[in-house]
Amino acid sequence: MPKFPGDMGLRLRRMSEFTARQEDVYVCGYPKSGGNWLWEICNMLLIGNTEYVKGNKMLAMLDFCDQEHFDKMRSPRCLSHHLQFEDIPPDVFRKGSKMVYILRNPKDVCVSHYHHHKGLVGVYDYHGIWPDYFEMWLEGKADYGKWSTHVKGWERGIKEHPTAPIHVIYYESLKRNFDSEVHRLAEFLCLPRNEPFFKRLSEKCDFAAMKKGKTKVGYSEEERQQWRNGEIGFLRKGVIGDWKNHFTTDQNKRFDKVYEKEMKDSKMHIVFE
Ligand code: A3P
Repeated sequence: MPKFPGDMGLRLRRMSEFTARQEDVYVCGYPKSGGNWLWEICNMLLIGNTEYVKGNKMLAMLDFCDQEHFDKMRSPRCLSHHLQFEDIPPDVFRKGSKMVYILRNPKDVCVSHYHHHKGLVGVYDYHGIWPDYFEMWLEGKADYGKWSTHVKGWERGIKEHPTAPIHVIYYESLKRNFDSEVHRLAEFLCLPRNEPFFKRLSEKCDFAAMKKGKTKVGYSEEERQQWRNGEIGFLRKGVIGDWKNHFTTDQNKRFDKVYEKEMKDSKMHIVFE
């Protein structure tokens, strides 16, 4: 687990006692899958305003903040976490709060995670090199464990909870079919918005616009200082396929082999190209 402030062990043990609200929306997923992007979109839809949220997703994360912090927030809350399916607080199911699960090509997740660890010097001070990081990530020794365990756990959980309101969204599809994915999301959240609103949202959430605008309003000077050269890694490159600039042919073969073994029973439609 990352070195978050406070007693992380206690926070996780208390997760089962978390009090949810029916109108909450939870943005969930393995780290580096595009959670910050999706959280911004969900907030805009929920609030009905296309201004960037002042502040960032960290302050909406169940794994980062305590119950008292969330109790002070006004509804509708857009919260977030990287929890495994079985660790979702039971009250979320009791209240019937909506969840959105984002997935991304694990090769790009691995690369993005590497840059996250290298970039967030104020938290990790990680000096490893890519070939070593690659092995560590594949073995599930980076934050939040194995990607395949997370994804398969959610896949199984969704199947076993057919009435739980969970919407699955793929990073690649959000990138390639932004408008239709956001319309689908708005429908799931029961938040009909007009076309000029969707158009503004699409402009604001485009990577380049968001990198420029969100960095200003979403992160304090102190938060920026935690990152190498002040570059917020939650908005790094924002492309599909950056793994091709990092993986060697051998690493790619190794990755495919592990993927085939660990994901052979999965029906998730991961897009590798
Ligand atoms: P890269 O490191 O590949 O650039 P998370 O929010 O779950 O930590 O995921 C971070 C990843 O989402 C980063 O990937 C980041 O650049 C990407 N991302 C953030 N905002 C985005 C946007 N508006 N469009 C596309 N990708 C975005």
